[in-house]
Amino acid sequence: MKLMISIALLFLLPSCASQTSVVYIESSPEPLDGVIQTKIKDTVSLVCTLNGTHEDKELVWLRNGAMIKLNDGNKENRSCVCINPVIQKDDGATFTCQLKSNSSHSASVTLDVTYSADLSGSEEVTLEEEESLDLQCDMRANPLATSVTWKLNGTLVDLSTGGFIITNDGINTKLYAKKVDRSLHEGSYECTVTSPGYGPQSKTFQVTVTDKTIKFPLMPTIAGVVVVALTTLLAIVSRWRVIAKCCK
Ligand SMILES: *[C@@H]1O[C@H](CO)[C@@H](O)[C@H](O)[C@H]1NC(C)=O
Ligand SMILES: *[C@@H]1O[C@H](CO)[C@@H](O)[C@H](O)[C@H]1NC(C)=O
Ligand SMILES: *[C@@H]1O[C@H](CO)[C@@H](O)[C@H](O)[C@H]1NC(C)=O
Ligand SMILES: *[C@@H]1O[C@H](CO)[C@@H](O)[C@H](O)[C@H]1NC(C)=O
Repeated sequence: MKLMISIALLFLLPSCASQTSVVYIESSPEPLDGVIQTKIKDTVSLVCTLNGTHEDKELVWLRNGAMIKLNDGNKENRSCVCINPVIQKDDGATFTCQLKSNSSHSASVTLDVTYSADLSGSEEVTLEEEESLDLQCDMRANPLATSVTWKLNGTLVDLSTGGFIITNDGINTKLYAKKVDRSLHEGSYECTVTSPGYGPQSKTFQVTVTDKTIKFPLMPTIAGVVVVALTTLLAIVSRWRVIAKCCK
């Protein structure tokens, strides 16, 4: 079985190579196994070249399967695209160059973009007593974050008091408490995400807890008034219909 696969590969490989050599991509920085290592805000330039003479010389570029608009004069025989600046959304994006008339003649490269968590600044949060505390920070980073911490007034949040729950789903880190109590929950919170190659990134939340207010149920009252008004209107309209019919 193994032998059969090896033989199949022997026959497959040269045909793949001859297909991909019709168009090829050169890039700066250079790719390794089809992957270009880069980081946020950097520039990546890609040049696609048509190898040899072909009837159709027009090239097209795709980013994750979506066509990239090219200027005239940047389509025949050779076409270049420049990713400047590289953004977080380019991480994992695949750039494909292909012959316009035959998409089976194509070449691709994929970007691997390193970035740190994008955290900064301070946010004011005001809660009433007994409301729930729900803070979250974006923890996405490449390479993945190695540490995620939450602090309250400068010391690590104590999970044994205050009913705090911390959850990390790889996208967000969340700090939650079901019912806030001013003495336990008011203060300055800080989330910090550290990823290799980047320093720690933090965001703060100034949480103020105010007295509980009794809320007047405004919405149900409005709904009730609307229903009464509509019913009256419908009654009048249907009466008018009857009257109109009589008039004919
Ligand atoms: C261009 O085509 C020639 C002939 O088919 C081949 O030998 C060569 O390796 C190709 N070059 C590239 C960069 O694919
Ligand atoms: C593309 O290459 C062909 C053949 O090599 C050549 O005749 C043609 O002039 C080239 N076109 C451009 C725009 O360079
Ligand atoms: C596209 O190129 C492939 C490989 O050379 C070939 O087998 C196929 O017939 C071509 N398709 C068209 C529509 O020309
Ligand atoms: C945090 O510090 C503020 C200001 O010093 C203080 O009012 C608050 O009670 C502290 N919060 C906790 C939970 O210790």
